[in-house]
Order: sequence, then structure tokens, then C-alpha cells
Amino acid sequence: VQLRDVDRANWEACTAIRPAREQERFVAPVAFYLCLCLYEQRWRPLAICAGEAIVGFVMWAVDPADGSHWIGGLVIDARRQRQGHGRAAVAALLERFRAAGATEAALSYQPENERARALYASLGFRETGERADGEVVARLGLR
Ligand SMILES: CC(C)(COP(=O)(O)OP(=O)(O)OC[C@H]1O[C@@H](n2cnc3c(N)ncnc32)[C@H](O)[C@@H]1OP(=O)(O)O)[C@@H](O)C(=O)NCCC(=O)NCCS
Repeated sequence: VQLRDVDRANWEACTAIRPAREQERFVAPVAFYLCLCLYEQRWRPLAICAGEAIVGFVMWAVDPADGSHWIGGLVIDARRQRQGHGRAAVAALLERFRAAGATEAALSYQPENERARALYASLGFRETGERADGEVVARLGLR
């Protein structure tokens, strides 16, 4: 996959990305994430592309307190799941973080989100015992 900036040409296609109905409790709608990025100016949005198709959405932010690079709002469209896109998108983002000199990546997920937990654990994220907004926090050292 490729991670592309969200812009005038693709923002609307991003809002059409939807998880499966039973996954809706794990994430907010992409339109909400885009507003968060626009108005709070903390998170930065990225479109996850496979060829010309937009298959997912993710955003990232740097915690000014400790410099850790956070991943948030990851959603792969229900019709494009289980094709390796989620894993590839997180791996590509971690590569960007490393290239930017980041020392640690972080993210959070709802404790019952087994798919997310398995994906992140297989990439090396380890739960720290912290909680953020009721979610489990996991971190990965980048060097
Ligand atoms: C979690 C999510 C992003 C995974 O995306 P995906 O493209 O389907 O994942 P991949 O195909 O790259 O699979 C990566 C890993 O995820 C896990 N996984 C994916 N689907 C799974 C399933 N049905 N059951 C169990 N584990 C699963 C596995 O560990 C898998 O590794 P494998 O390829 O070795 O089996 C996707 O299911 C999604 O958008 N879910 C709804 C939104 C959400 O929960 N986002 C995360 C918020 S923290």
C-alpha cells in the first residue's frame, strides 16, 4: 500500500471508508477523524491506497510530552479487509516514523478489539498497562 496525504481530490473518498457493522463500535467515522485533524491540528490524516483505490484511513500525531509517535483512527474498508492492507499500512507508517528519527511508536485500542490487538502484537507492540480514554495502550521501540 501507499500512504497519501488527504487533499481536495481524495477527502470525500476517504469518508466512504467503512468498517464492518460489528466493528463500528471500535472506531469513529472517518469524517469525524478528518474534522479532528482539521480543527484540533494535532493529528495528521493519511489515505491508505492500493493502486488507485483508497482502501483505508489512518492518522498520526506526536506527543509533545515524550516525542512518541501515535497511530490512530486506523480503518480498512470492510470489503478490503484480510488482504494485508492493515498490516502494510502500519508497517509503512512505522517506516516513516523511523525515517523521521522517532524513537517510539504508540497506539491504543479497545480491549475487546481482538483483530487490532493481534495485528499490533504481531508487529511488536507491547501493552504497557497505561490506559487512554478507556483504551489499552501499546508501545513499540523504534531503535
Ligand atoms: C484491524 C484492521 C485495521 C485490520 O486490517 P486488515 O487489512 O483486515 O488486516 P490484515 O489483512 O493486514 O491482517 C493483519 C493481521 O490482523 C489480524 N487479523 C485480521 N483479520 C483478522 C480476523 N478476522 N481474526 C483475527 N485476526 C485478524 C491478524 O493478526 C492478521 O495477521 P495475519 O495476516 O498473519 O493473519 C481492520 O480489521 C479494521 O479496519 N477493523 C475495524 C476498525 C478497527 O478496529 N481499527 C483499529 C482501531 S485500534
